[in-house]
Amino acid sequence: MTDVGAEHLSAASEQPRLFHVIDPRVFDRRLLDDLCELATRVRRIAKSREGALYLQNLLPTRRAMLYFTQPSTRTFLSFNNACHILGIRTSEIRDPSTSSEVKGESFEDSIRTFSSYVDVIIMRTREPGRAAVAARLMDSIPRPVPVINAGSGSDQHPTQALLDIYTLDRSFAERGGIDGKVIGMMGDLKRGRTVRSLSYLMKCYRDVRLVFIAPAPFAMQPDVKAHLAEHGIEFIETERLDDVLPELDALYVTRMQSEWDIAGESRSVDIRRFSVGPAQLARLKPDAIIMHPLPRGPEIDPAVDADHRAMYWRQERNGMWMRVAVLLTIFGLDQEVRAADFPADG
Ligand code: CP
Repeated sequence: MTDVGAEHLSAASEQPRLFHVIDPRVFDRRLLDDLCELATRVRRIAKSREGALYLQNLLPTRRAMLYFTQPSTRTFLSFNNACHILGIRTSEIRDPSTSSEVKGESFEDSIRTFSSYVDVIIMRTREPGRAAVAARLMDSIPRPVPVINAGSGSDQHPTQALLDIYTLDRSFAERGGIDGKVIGMMGDLKRGRTVRSLSYLMKCYRDVRLVFIAPAPFAMQPDVKAHLAEHGIEFIETERLDDVLPELDALYVTRMQSEWDIAGESRSVDIRRFSVGPAQLARLKPDAIIMHPLPRGPEIDPAVDADHRAMYWRQERNGMWMRVAVLLTIFGLDQEVRAADFPADG
């Protein structure tokens, strides 16, 4: 597990400013609300040519390193495009065999080298805790740059959790927000970093109830459950989706994370019991939402895509705007964008 605490919310100014983004536990309600509001603000500004050019001129002298040594489609592309929306130029390493790490350069020396050239390091690794190591290294050198965890092993995926909060917040905007909602998380909860990170953020909301729906060998891990208990977040665990489906305001579906299998454990699961198709839609509340971090496997029937409750494609796009908001906040331009003279609605 990572161990990065509140020191990564720097209080250099009156408003706490985000620096490293490593562990979702450092976020509080105010920062989450601010990020959601800012994400909506930038997506509206970007609708006009004038607005898009304004955004592109905000950070033209900044450079970002996208160090993604574990496969990714949407996190990589959404960060890459979030950078481009703000005028940030990007470099990337996606294949570690093209990096001097194959010549024996240490991870720490590689990260320090990136920091010689760029202003932010966005990284995804197969190993848990690597982004936290990189952040600690940055905190010990003369020219530290922020590190953003874009997925660390089966451990944490904090910016996915932020975009998930944004999606929940938008979806429930007319229904009192996230407070008081019943949120189901289904699938491989043991090895799913998205549901682990999202569970951590639930401490920021009032009267949320969580329903963990998973095969017993892939149940939510004790560390997350201990965190929920510590913060008084109610949760139940079940293997029976049918029993809880009509109660849910949101159903967050995940795939079996078979990339972490040692001996084909995922194959022991009858995924049909943890899947959504037309039969489940019929029993889901009319105003509930279905989320998925994607990529999906067979756990969501493509026939669900046309249903008004299917939120995963919007969720994916929300990720780009939330990552723009994160970058603006890290670079201290969040207040400027909030105050910019553009129409509030577009
Ligand atoms: N949701 C998510 O992290 O997707 P990618 O693995 O494609 O980045």
